[in-house]
Amino acid sequence: MFTVRAPASSANLGSGFDVFGIALGRPADVVRVERAPETTITVTGAGSQYIPEDPERNTVGAVAEALDAPARIQIDKGVRPSSGLGSSAASAAAAAVALNALYDRGLSREELVPIAAEGEALVSGAAHSDNVAPSLLGGFTIVTEGGITQVDASLSLVACLPEINVSTRDARKVVPERAEMADIVSTVGHAATLAVGMARDDPDLVGRGMDDGIVTPERAALIRGYDDVRDAALAVGATGVTVSGAGPTLLAVCREPDRRAVASAMMDAFDDHGIESRAYQTEVGAGAQLYSDAE
Ligand code: HSE
Repeated sequence: MFTVRAPASSANLGSGFDVFGIALGRPADVVRVERAPETTITVTGAGSQYIPEDPERNTVGAVAEALDAPARIQIDKGVRPSSGLGSSAASAAAAAVALNALYDRGLSREELVPIAAEGEALVSGAAHSDNVAPSLLGGFTIVTEGGITQVDASLSLVACLPEINVSTRDARKVVPERAEMADIVSTVGHAATLAVGMARDDPDLVGRGMDDGIVTPERAALIRGYDDVRDAALAVGATGVTVSGAGPTLLAVCREPDRRAVASAMMDAFDDHGIESRAYQTEVGAGAQLYSDAE
């Protein structure tokens, strides 16, 4: 029997649409597996009532199928579905690590990325690796056709999740099919700045590098109060704010001493719009952690 804790993640970071991702220190999903003749799934925790337990319709069932690893699988959701925090990716990453160990498949974390991404495709409609990569590998990840680049990063964050729903499918519909060259040039500059900031653990560079005029404005329009919440966070020390993944979570980068004030300011600003929210005060975190029953 194995248990894996896999973290939430935040994809895009503004300028790195479908490319950048970071693992968060919290929240996280916990998946427990034991060998069985056929796969069964039970789901408890945050938003579990919205997650199908039928293995044919669950991300984790797809991972078990891909690894030819039937198991009794218990998923305890810490990451709310449709939050923009890589909820299905966290479950898929946890299951991939757990089943790889349970059946001694010997695959590396990098080799598990496409397997977990296939699982995620079942619910999101497309196999993006920008959430499963950080959930599996930890730190800051850059996913391109050529492969995955990972770097550990130390950065304080606030992930503020409002009680509104934005589905990944809907949020993808608003992504423009084309962009102006001036916007592309600007976004490339910001993305490069952000990547250097991650390598240097520099919250100013990362915050500045999150700016994006192509996808983020379209997504922000789906989140009531976005401008006010962003301004409130920036006013108390956040160095950058953007939509986390497909939303509705907003991600703020800051310095550790400002984190509490940033979290409060974001929640208060949502509250001014009549929206309840919760704020995770966290940091860039580690990838999925495996525990065997003996531990
Ligand atoms: N990069 C993806 C998006 C993340 O923003 O749509 C969610 O799968």
